[in-house]
Amino acid sequence: MCNFVNEMSTATPLLLARAKELLEQDQVIAIPTETVYGLAGNMWSEQAVNTIYHLKQRPRSNPLIVHVATIAAAQALAKEIPAPLLRLATHFWPGPLTLLVEKSSQVPDSITAGSSKVAIRIPAHPLTRALLEQLSFPLVAPSANPYTRISPTTAEHVRYYFGDAIPLILDGGPCERGLESTIIGMENNQPIVYRAGALELEEIEKWIGPVTHFQPQGKETPTPGLAARHYAPITPTQICMREEIATQYSSGTAVLVLQQSIPSIPLDHQFVLAASGSLQEAAQNLYRILHQIDQAGFKKIICEELPAAGLGLTMNDKLKRAATLATPALKP
Ligand code: TXA
Ligand code: MG
Repeated sequence: MCNFVNEMSTATPLLLARAKELLEQDQVIAIPTETVYGLAGNMWSEQAVNTIYHLKQRPRSNPLIVHVATIAAAQALAKEIPAPLLRLATHFWPGPLTLLVEKSSQVPDSITAGSSKVAIRIPAHPLTRALLEQLSFPLVAPSANPYTRISPTTAEHVRYYFGDAIPLILDGGPCERGLESTIIGMENNQPIVYRAGALELEEIEKWIGPVTHFQPQGKETPTPGLAARHYAPITPTQICMREEIATQYSSGTAVLVLQQSIPSIPLDHQFVLAASGSLQEAAQNLYRILHQIDQAGFKKIICEELPAAGLGLTMNDKLKRAATLATPALKP
């Protein structure tokens, strides 16, 4: 398997040709994106869609994001892209932004879980963009992890989860963003963020003004990704203020800190998200470190609550969800 970081190697055309061939045969492969790796298949292929759900062990009630190469291709899948969302697409695509819009009648219900809306994005990774440009169909691609597990940010993570179950993992190097895309739609003419993600709310608001967060009403979860237990390590996880970490610590605990380790806790139990303190760097590292902790056999994870702005909000949201139901009973 080759490594591509920002440039294409001489092997790229051959790998892309193989990827294209497999996708045209209704097979499912792993693709790199700037956010996380995806498990990709032809959106029109019932077989590919079934394989994706089967591999992920994902309930059919949880719909799939469609990945396209151009805004025109996105528009062809939507009834209409409302003006504020189109403004965002024009500015942030290719990039970590997913639009949830009313679907055109040709989009199959099997990928939207029967919903009248479809989620669409243009990913920014050069390898996947090159692939999409060569295909005559869009790709559905959920994150390449089994249902409820941490998203993969390296090809190695995908190999760990799916090993020989898929015929190809396109290795695009570590994901530049490291968090899933931000999902935004409109309700009653107001922009609503359904999933906090790699594109900061502040960036979105610069273009379309204030946005609100989706608040589930009762049991309704139009974005099943909002389900409480999601993106979770299997190790029980808790999030707390930095000052409280030392009192919560016990042996066998892994401690996740933003920038500086905590003097009273053994250093080999501490994981620094970003030596620079940058939230972008922390986001790039978060899932990789959670994978590492999960595999190292710690009994518990304590995470420092991150600053409540930008990507700090996204990461706190993910960690709180991970903490909600990550009980020892869930550990295999
Ligand atoms: O960054 C990303 O978005 C990555 C990369 C691979 O593109 N993909 C990703 O897909 O995170 P997934 O399936 O793991 O998360 C997509 C979320 C899910 O929570 C799903 O329920 C929601 O988007 N979603 C997809 N289509 C939807 C729809 N039609 N209506 C409501 N929610 C939808
Ligand atoms: Mg996912």
